[in-house]
Amino acid sequence: MLRLQAPLPDGYSTSTPEDLAARIAAAKAALGDRLMILGHHYQRDEVMRWADARGDSFGLSRLAARSHAEYVVFCGVHFMAESADILTGPDQQVVLPDLNAGCSMADMADLDSVEEAWDSLAEVTDVETIVPITYMNSAAVLKAFVGRHGGAVCTSSNARKILTWALGQRGPDTKVLFFPDQHLGRNTAYQLGYAEADMAVWDPRRALGGLDERTVKEARFLLWKGHCSVHQRFRPAHVEEFRAAHPGGVVIAHPECSHEVVALADEVGSTDYIISAVERLEQERPGVDVAVATEIHLVQRLAHEHPGVQVDSLDPLICPCSTMFRIDAAHLAWVLEELVGGRVVNRITVDDATAGAARVALQRMLDIS
Ligand code: 13P
Ligand code: SF4
Repeated sequence: MLRLQAPLPDGYSTSTPEDLAARIAAAKAALGDRLMILGHHYQRDEVMRWADARGDSFGLSRLAARSHAEYVVFCGVHFMAESADILTGPDQQVVLPDLNAGCSMADMADLDSVEEAWDSLAEVTDVETIVPITYMNSAAVLKAFVGRHGGAVCTSSNARKILTWALGQRGPDTKVLFFPDQHLGRNTAYQLGYAEADMAVWDPRRALGGLDERTVKEARFLLWKGHCSVHQRFRPAHVEEFRAAHPGGVVIAHPECSHEVVALADEVGSTDYIISAVERLEQERPGVDVAVATEIHLVQRLAHEHPGVQVDSLDPLICPCSTMFRIDAAHLAWVLEELVGGRVVNRITVDDATAGAARVALQRMLDIS
């Protein structure tokens, strides 16, 4: 999706890091309790140091829902800011410092293709038995679609609970249509004890998702053909190389990695889970080598903040999320100084009809988790 961020006004991109830090500190102090800065774990340090709260996408959505700040500046990506707008009150405003901070995975499912998929499914099976589940990494219109069709949102930290809930919704023949990340869907289905034969990949570019009627009818999970380009880079060979070099080392993977990688990992979980696993290993196994399969800014922060263990990326070639990386100190300074001046720039809003239906799906997630 194209969201064009205008170039920053003069003086931001050319400022020194020290100058930007002083400007952010001054703007933050001027705004006081009226402001809450939320930082996703993949943010750069120059941004994260200003966050009032850090979290994974689930934790940040819960914080946004509980916050009373007039301005919530979301240092993360667009779908997270949209969810924050849906979960905050009408007198609160959510700001994304760079409008080009999207998510390539979220863009792999759009409303037209999901509606087309639903219509095609209705031709061959009873859609009343299908519960649509969207990963948090999706546009608000898709969360609204799910809300209208009795489904829920999930994140990587609660996918198991949400899928368990979904499978109990429509009797023994319940199916789940899971989008946009096939890997999180597949990894969670395996965790729940399902087999490959219970899952089918739905390719939105092909008629009936590229499947035959029988496969659609028999599958318990229809997994949208989407992926995260950051996490899909990790390969089983990386695990094998790490194990050969560090016998006794620990591999921790995010569930957006392929099932081949997840099956070889010692621990699997959301960004919050990964952080708590490293904290635990530092206590229980000081000095152990830990290879982490997730975005590089989180891996580097873990390495810095936990010197008692040796933390490295599972992939020796670094692997940043280029859209998360768009949020920098210059953009943060700009939006904050505009707020101090009484101007809200880069506000993220979701229209009332979409927000109402999406809130149903988000609230179901919060209630089930
Ligand atoms: P978390 O749910 O772990 O925050 O992951 C969000 C994300 O975008 C991972 O790529
Ligand atoms: Fe999207 Fe992947 Fe970046 Fe997460 S890491 S925001 S899923 S592109």
